[in-house]
Amino acid sequence: MEKFVIRGGNPLSGEISIGGAKNAAIAIIPAAALVKGVCRLENMPKISDVRIQLDILEELGAKVTYVDETTVDIDCTELHDPTESAYQLMCGIRASYYLLGSLLGRNGKASVSMPGGCDFGIRPIDQHIKGFEALGAHIDVRNGKIEADATSGLHSANIYFDTVSVGATMNVMLAAAMAKGTTIMENVAKEPHIVDLANFLNSMGAKVSGAGTDVIKIKGVESLHGGTYSIIPDQIEAGTYMAAVAATGGSLLIKNVIPRHLECITNKLVDMNVEVEELDDAVRVTRTGKLTKTNIKTLPYPGFPTDMQPQLAVVLCLAEGTSIVTEGIWDDRFRYMDELKKMGAITQVDGKVAIIEGVKRLNGACVKARDLRAGAAMVIAGMAAEGTTEVVDIKYIERGYEDIVQKLRNVGADICRVCED
Ligand code: EPU
Repeated sequence: MEKFVIRGGNPLSGEISIGGAKNAAIAIIPAAALVKGVCRLENMPKISDVRIQLDILEELGAKVTYVDETTVDIDCTELHDPTESAYQLMCGIRASYYLLGSLLGRNGKASVSMPGGCDFGIRPIDQHIKGFEALGAHIDVRNGKIEADATSGLHSANIYFDTVSVGATMNVMLAAAMAKGTTIMENVAKEPHIVDLANFLNSMGAKVSGAGTDVIKIKGVESLHGGTYSIIPDQIEAGTYMAAVAATGGSLLIKNVIPRHLECITNKLVDMNVEVEELDDAVRVTRTGKLTKTNIKTLPYPGFPTDMQPQLAVVLCLAEGTSIVTEGIWDDRFRYMDELKKMGAITQVDGKVAIIEGVKRLNGACVKARDLRAGAAMVIAGMAAEGTTEVVDIKYIERGYEDIVQKLRNVGADICRVCED
């Protein structure tokens, strides 16, 4: 069993460099299946979700070559139907469902397993299906597989999404990139990774406009060509280290970020008496004084990101006063609160609302990473706590944080990865 062992109490100081954005990379990799040619992707995060997406493409016949640690060439000139092992890999991650959009766009048909991923309650895909059907595909969900078929090809459509969904926006964008005519998608998600996927597609010859606003327009093209594209920095990885230094105290220069993408996080930290200095492609986060309470409600971008909710909740556990955290995206994203209680946090959860009463200190304990971001929150809590914390189920954390142990050790944390029987 692998676990992180953390001896808390060290303030963080120094510099951390942020990797490529997970939620952009895991959509852009399947997007390469639309291209019959070589896509060179730079600034790839070194995380297991990326490795699995690349393994799936290889199982489908793609040639995948690492040029260096963070640059990979993907050649999808020849692809075949999924093998049993491709289906096995697909159920291990959520983002395998982007192959529905890209293979549908490429071949007019696609077959993927039902996606896996972190469990925060029901995760429907009705909006993806609504979009594919509007483009002319027939969708069949049975025996753990989703089959999409557009025998007479995909055509354009006007699609109004009932819910703002990152996944549906990206998936339908992939399918529409080579559909006949001009597709209009309304009430779409606006996260930085939506814009990144649109920029990737455009750099390969697609005609996508409006990404980052509520309406995306896609003029279908006959084919896409290869090229080189660099993935944006990870907003949530950066935000996680911002929260970490807020919790431990100290000062961190967080490099290779787009400060504009972090504003929703910066504003909350400033409310909590943390200093954040925005530089060109870095932020310096410093916490010397006492943390103060605030309220947080998660919302689609540019609102406060749900993927930062657990990390900021840990900081609020150490703030003076009572804070309220409202989860606006997922039904069941507070299960990690039980783990924090083991460390002495005082919290009460009622549905999608958590009330947090600040305490003077957290104490080390043995806690579980309930999912990726909850796991990151446990690491932060462990670094801020008195005594030793062990975090188990770290496979969730390693899905989305590259070199987390080394990055934190470099800035003064006492954390190590231990493997035991
Ligand atoms: N929803 C529907 N129908 C759909 C799709 C979504 O009702 O067809 C609902 C969901 O149930 C949820 C809301 O819409 O209540 C938003 O879901 P969304 O589709 O935006 O989420 P997702 O695409 O499944 C991605 C990230 C998540 C992140 C959310 C929200 C990936 C692989 N996952 O999920 O990231 O929380 O967007 O920003 O990109 C993480 O990185 O830790 C993570 C969980």
